[in-house]
Amino acid sequence: MKTAIVTGASSGLGREFVRQLADVFPEVECYWLIARRADRLEELAAAVPEKRVECLSMDLCDTMSFMAIQEKLNAQKPEIVLLVNNAGCGYLGRVGEADTASQTRMIDLNLRALTAITNMTVPFMVPGSRILNVSSIASFCPTPRMTVYSSTKAYVSSFTVGLAEELKPKGITVTAVCPGPMKTEFLEVGNITGHSRTFENLPYCDQVRVADGALRAARAGRTIYTPKLFYKFYRILAKATPVKLMVKLTKT
Ligand SMILES: NC(=O)c1ccc[n+]([C@@H]2O[C@H](COP(=O)([O-])OP(=O)(O)OC[C@H]3O[C@@H](n4cnc5c(N)ncnc54)[C@H](OP(=O)(O)O)[C@@H]3O)[C@@H](O)[C@H]2O)c1
Repeated sequence: MKTAIVTGASSGLGREFVRQLADVFPEVECYWLIARRADRLEELAAAVPEKRVECLSMDLCDTMSFMAIQEKLNAQKPEIVLLVNNAGCGYLGRVGEADTASQTRMIDLNLRALTAITNMTVPFMVPGSRILNVSSIASFCPTPRMTVYSSTKAYVSSFTVGLAEELKPKGITVTAVCPGPMKTEFLEVGNITGHSRTFENLPYCDQVRVADGALRAARAGRTIYTPKLFYKFYRILAKATPVKLMVKLTKT
């Protein structure tokens, strides 16, 4: 069965991906929605009655979840036409001051889970399948006070570019979307609201538009997609400017 997997589907950008998925990928018959909050996933499933939806309530920071996904893949042998690696978190805080659990959670979720799920699902993909990784503008340059987060997103963008080349012979495309700040639960979860002047002053991206643009970029097989002109310019600036100078401008 033609299947799409969306991680972090229970809120924010992930929920928007699911709501809009059928507009851009109408051929998908079945959705696997992954997040911890089962009630949110069930609510979302009810909003797409025309599709078969499987809600997989699991903690992607727990490696047992990888075993559960692998077992499900082996048992059902779906044709994965779209994988959206969206689940992610970003905590504001200086290394050495922030708690270790939140610093390492960003690595577990943003890197380890994304890498594991990609590795497990590629064997179930076919020519024309798409992988969409949610990165960030934070991947363009290290961001002090969010140093771990920006480093995880640098990995996501780098992983995307490398994997896109690697999977070319198989006809599978890989896209990274790099949004600026969006008004989602991310800001509360990461203790950013009220604690960062940079976040207060930056232009915000609308997650509804980001989801639409990112799905279309994935369909078109683009490798990096940056929504909003302001951030397209920022990406060019970050490329053209020595990183030691840029990092002085990017303090959160
Ligand atoms: N908002 C921004 O300013 C911004 C900017 C650039 C990039 N991004 C990126 O956009 C992506 C989506 O974030 P968002 O803004 O939509 O934030 P969000 O509303 O907080 O969504 C995060 C999603 O990840 C899921 N999640 C968190 N921890 C998980 C875990 N341990 N296991 C499984 N699922 C987990 C959450 O579901 P549960 O809590 O139910 O598990 C939720 O569905 C992230 O990769 C983020 O880094 C966000």
